[in-house]
Amino acid sequence: MEITSVLIYIIVLFLSTIFSYPFLKKLKWNSKSIPYKLPPGSMGWPYIGETLQLYSQDPNIFFATKQRRYGEIFKSHILGCPCVMLASPEATKFVLATHSELFKPTYPKSKEKMIGPSAIFFHQGNYHSLLRKLVQNCLSPGSLQKLVPDIEAIAISALQSWAGGDVINTFHEMKKFSFDVGILSVFGRLDKKHRENLKENYCIVDKGYNSFPTNIPGTTYHRALLARKRLSQIVNDIIYEREEKKILEKDLLGHFLNFKDEKGQVLSKDQISDNIIGVLFAAQDTTASVLTWTLKYLHDDQKLLEAVKAEQKAIYEENEGGKRPLTWAQTRNMPFTHRVILESLRMASIISFTFREAVVDVEYNGYLIPKGWKVLPLFRNIHHNPELFTDPQDFDPSRFEVAPKPNTFMPFGNGVHACPGNELAKMELLILIHHLVTKFRWEVVGSQSGIQYGPFPIPQNGLPARFWNESNNT
Ligand code: HEM
Repeated sequence: MEITSVLIYIIVLFLSTIFSYPFLKKLKWNSKSIPYKLPPGSMGWPYIGETLQLYSQDPNIFFATKQRRYGEIFKSHILGCPCVMLASPEATKFVLATHSELFKPTYPKSKEKMIGPSAIFFHQGNYHSLLRKLVQNCLSPGSLQKLVPDIEAIAISALQSWAGGDVINTFHEMKKFSFDVGILSVFGRLDKKHRENLKENYCIVDKGYNSFPTNIPGTTYHRALLARKRLSQIVNDIIYEREEKKILEKDLLGHFLNFKDEKGQVLSKDQISDNIIGVLFAAQDTTASVLTWTLKYLHDDQKLLEAVKAEQKAIYEENEGGKRPLTWAQTRNMPFTHRVILESLRMASIISFTFREAVVDVEYNGYLIPKGWKVLPLFRNIHHNPELFTDPQDFDPSRFEVAPKPNTFMPFGNGVHACPGNELAKMELLILIHHLVTKFRWEVVGSQSGIQYGPFPIPQNGLPARFWNESNNT
């Protein structure tokens, strides 16, 4: 991790611990309330806990070292918060699925403000279930089928724009691709003016999301908040146009606008725009990181690439050398490529862990998780546990010929907040890979090892690469 990022974290931490110290004192567990002990582990230095250790090295090494030392449940103190880390499938299921009501989602206020406080991620209970039904409905296989031709067109146009041999930043280009697919699933075929406007302002929000949260004119964070306001205005303009023209669409915006509960209550404009922007946010960097890793894995292993090519070429021939478009049925019948995607999701584990907060004192397996403590299910450690995945450092898609044991494979999370976009994400990966391997070749430029965090792990420098169209070498 870059030294500047570490310094920023220390400053954030210092300020947040100073301001939260009285609150943390209140959180101190009253040992008389439940006769259980805290999990093993260390809380590090006063105030800063173990934040420096976590952010000055690969976070995966930090967690793996702890797990070796203390076992699958251990305590720590990071970013000003006492935490319990969970690296077992059972504990993860307990927190995210079977006892999810005891743990609430928790995000820094600055991030909540940037996405919008009414967005699905931040909620529990009835409001959350209502939103989830709407989002899941719109991203269900039935709705996704209709998107295949448009996603295919976006993929072909993206690949054509890269071909020609100039070096591109694969991650940045994948971000543009996943954003366009996100826009499609949210707004259907949106006109160019609104699309460009959304893109421009979203880019500013994206830059500010991980910046130091000082709301002073001139800072990246302040600029991002202003752009965030403009995003809401653009969504409102689109809603207004739809209402004017009495357009009833079946996309996510349509689902939100048509919603009415049994008492006749509808979603407010703010609730709609926070959730639209939230979904665009959830869909972009995640999908782009996994796509970038998948391209790297394919590039680094010629045999793997040949096997994917063989499967995709057969479909290409079936479609008369690509003259006919891909069908929904074909995207559902790419077993080898599908396993490559699952293995890429496991290997890269781009969401290494998630955060929850205990809403009451909770007992788990004889240990106490005190109220107010953060709880971190460690997906990556589970995906890289040799007892659950043999030789976890080897890229081996054949391991998915048999379904993984329950709660051991969670690239899309688990339980009530599990990713509703997982089918869309896999579908856009399959479509892009189909066109990439049947019509293009690519070469990674420069050093091919190393990981960067932004905040998701991506290959060093976003995987700079050159692409060529195989048919005419351009
Ligand atoms: C490969 C790509 C993706 C990965 C790895 C991924 C991963 C995840 C994970 C792990 C969660 C759960 C987080 C938690 O429990 O705290 C999540 C939630 C979510 N994801 Fe995804 N995601 C991806 C793509 C997408 C796409 C394409 C969409 C939408 C079009 C989407 C929409 C959402 C939403 C709305 C939530 C919040 C659900 C809730 O709180 O109920 N994701 N995602």
